[in-house]
Amino acid sequence: KLLILDYGSQTTQLIGRRIREFGVFSEILPGNTQITDELLTGVKGIILSGSPHSVNDADSPEPDHRIFELAAAGLPVLGICYGLQRMTQLHGGSVQASDHREFGRSRIRYNETHPLFAGIPESFVSWMSHGDSIIQAGEGFRVVAESENGIPACLAAPDKNMVGIQFHPEVSHCEHGLEILKNFALNICQARAEWSLDRILDDITEDIRRTTDGKPVLLLISGGVDSTVVAGLLLRALDPELVHLMYIDTGLMRLNETDEVVRTLESLGATHIHVVDARDRFLNPLEGVSDPEEKRRIIGDAFIEIQQHEVTARGIPEHAFLAQGTLYTDLIESGKGVGKHAAVIKSHHNVGSPLVIEKREAGLVIEPLASLYKDEVRAIGTKIGISDAVVHRHPFPGPGLAIRIPGQITREKIAILQQADDIYIRELKARGLYDEIWQAFAVLLPVRSVGVAGDAREYGYVLALRAIISRDGMTADVYPMPWDHLLEISARITNQVRQVGRVVYDVSSKPPATIEWE
Ligand code: XMP
Repeated sequence: KLLILDYGSQTTQLIGRRIREFGVFSEILPGNTQITDELLTGVKGIILSGSPHSVNDADSPEPDHRIFELAAAGLPVLGICYGLQRMTQLHGGSVQASDHREFGRSRIRYNETHPLFAGIPESFVSWMSHGDSIIQAGEGFRVVAESENGIPACLAAPDKNMVGIQFHPEVSHCEHGLEILKNFALNICQARAEWSLDRILDDITEDIRRTTDGKPVLLLISGGVDSTVVAGLLLRALDPELVHLMYIDTGLMRLNETDEVVRTLESLGATHIHVVDARDRFLNPLEGVSDPEEKRRIIGDAFIEIQQHEVTARGIPEHAFLAQGTLYTDLIESGKGVGKHAAVIKSHHNVGSPLVIEKREAGLVIEPLASLYKDEVRAIGTKIGISDAVVHRHPFPGPGLAIRIPGQITREKIAILQQADDIYIRELKARGLYDEIWQAFAVLLPVRSVGVAGDAREYGYVLALRAIISRDGMTADVYPMPWDHLLEISARITNQVRQVGRVVYDVSSKPPATIEWE
């Protein structure tokens, strides 16, 4: 495997993702991790990531110097951007804020061969993102490539097994980026490509069996991809009699969602599906509430209370494990410089609930997806027979439709929104647009506008449609919905949902807007 040390770059996770794409296992650790012999077991090479920091800042994160001793002794090290600059600085070179900052595409050319560029044309368009540049190479380093602006783009110290690049091969806009990472991993490090779906599945199955050791397991089901895949994995690894799946119907779910969830779980072989009809317990306290934070608080509290109560009421044994759908990306604190191997910080209703805390303290938590990226989870889901409709489902927030009805929530409004949203999503699927979109949904606005129906003036609700493209939900661009589709979808909704009189399309990006309206 390869170790990736993270100095806080937005794209560190992509490095790991790309490397796994060609079958090499990679693990991301905080940049200042002390490199112990134990950590090095099975490690064939180390990558130092980029960073929002400057190496000249007093408190910028620093790699353990042992890495460079290991390199000199034969363990290949690749520095990317900040990683290269650190490497340079620690070997007596110089790095300075440059007059010529490079952001985005930049053509580079290498003037001597290096195994990193094996099979790649001498000149190609790379992806840059740096303010500091290398002014003087570190001891033993040679400039192998330069950008069109005359800035060093690759430096290597072949005798010390170190190489660094100023550009970001992990970013998809970088030509030959994947090949460069591949050259490093497979040729320079001689890492083996053995990370395959079959292998992951076998490892996870084995791990679930070993960890739970005959004890029952409880999993809270949200209806989303992650919890459904965990359910599938548990049911595959264990006797279904041991697997308790609990789904709380908040009354704020999408149209027919509860039935669909139950059907999916049944198809996976579940025998203990606990559907908790908690609609009144959510909707009653929400009555008359319009403040978004207050809504979230009420919903969060209700989840906690109901979980606690139902686990006991339904006779789920006290010594049962709690399975969670935590992903690898949830474990890595991103974008904050030197990350701690962070606690789960997903904005999710389960975090911090007494049930989770209690189980964690008792050592009764299992997280079968904790080493996987989202697309790996999807691939596993498909492999274990979960339908595309579930595996490729858009994300849905824990508070559900409550945050898509600005202002006061009523049962009538929920029913209107469920219908309109269902038409919208079905239309996107029928038109082949759904999979191009990261998240799409409708919002029922607290506004009535005038319309005509026959001879009468009628005041109907205004419905906003949102569709965005995004990589991770942190930033998002509006999806440029083809005009004809938009017009037809709008007409379908106003024809079929009588209470909606007007449809608008939300064209805001994030930032400054958020994805949800509340
Ligand atoms: P925003 O609106 O913050 O949304 O741009 C980013 C992503 O997070 C989802 N989201 C939530 N998920 N509880 C959740 O579990 C919440 O309170 C919540 N608020 C937003 C949102 O759907 C989008 O995918």
